[in-house]
Amino acid sequence: MQIIRSVQQMQQRCLTARQAGKRIAFVPTMGWLHEGHLSLLREGRRRGDLLVLSIFVNPTQFGQNEDFDSYPRDLERDAALARDVGVDLIFAPEAADMYPRGYQTFVDVEGAMTSVLCGASRPGHFRGVTTVVTKLFTIVQPHVALFGQKDFQQLAVIRRMTADLNLPVEIVGMPIVREPDGLAMSSRNVYLTDEQRRQALVLYRALCEARRLVAGGRTDSAGIVESLRAMIEAEPETRIDYVEICHQATLERQRTVDADSVLLLAVFVGKTRLIDNGYLLPT
Ligand code: PAJ
Repeated sequence: MQIIRSVQQMQQRCLTARQAGKRIAFVPTMGWLHEGHLSLLREGRRRGDLLVLSIFVNPTQFGQNEDFDSYPRDLERDAALARDVGVDLIFAPEAADMYPRGYQTFVDVEGAMTSVLCGASRPGHFRGVTTVVTKLFTIVQPHVALFGQKDFQQLAVIRRMTADLNLPVEIVGMPIVREPDGLAMSSRNVYLTDEQRRQALVLYRALCEARRLVAGGRTDSAGIVESLRAMIEAEPETRIDYVEICHQATLERQRTVDADSVLLLAVFVGKTRLIDNGYLLPT
């Protein structure tokens, strides 16, 4: 396994691999790897000859008051985990090389998809994500790229962008990996105190409760959301950002639950903003 920091070197290396007929599988991350990331890498290992992992805490997708500075970083730790799952190349560029002086170009999915849910509470976030993912695709030139459903809206936006720009990359979505008690794995879970970690379980409990209500015949989104909000607010350190039932592809709000319905949650627990989601009917 090799760690490459230079953009040019990475691009050249991947171009050579492509020309040699190798299939490139790519997993973009911001590092502090956990089982969620590793599940993407294992699937990438299966799907490609050359497995590339990028580790880059992308400044353009963080808002002014967000956790860019405190986001956990440890390349040595990540490299050891990556080696164990069979990564061939780690691309770990510097922000100054990805966004050099004079940088002016951004990729923006402009429709409603990026202005709702996380897009409403994190203005500019998806513009940063789509810009960096486009740049990474251009540098790594993957045949296939893997993303987690944990970031459901991000996956939908990346699918939209890839289709709209005719990018020659197959996008694969992978299921959410959870802790044994149900908490969705996230690099941000390290911010939680023990007590907050306990309260954070309410996100998964809310998802299970929504599924239970739907299985029992309820289809009114407003009523379901109201019960979930009460359940979440019962935990002392939680503050709801959003609880919504949306269509899986368009992310439009749905009044009535059907097979395309996804529950999407964003909840602050203390100062940490956690997200979770899931389909409401068995898929
Ligand atoms: P990051 O939060 O590091 O996540 C990298 C990838 O891992 C994303 O596709 C995310 O959905 C997936 N992932 C995270 N937690 C997961 C879990 N519990 N189960 C399954 N998959 C999980 O998402 C980003 O980085 C960035 O926005 C990025 C796409 C790299 C652009 O900067």
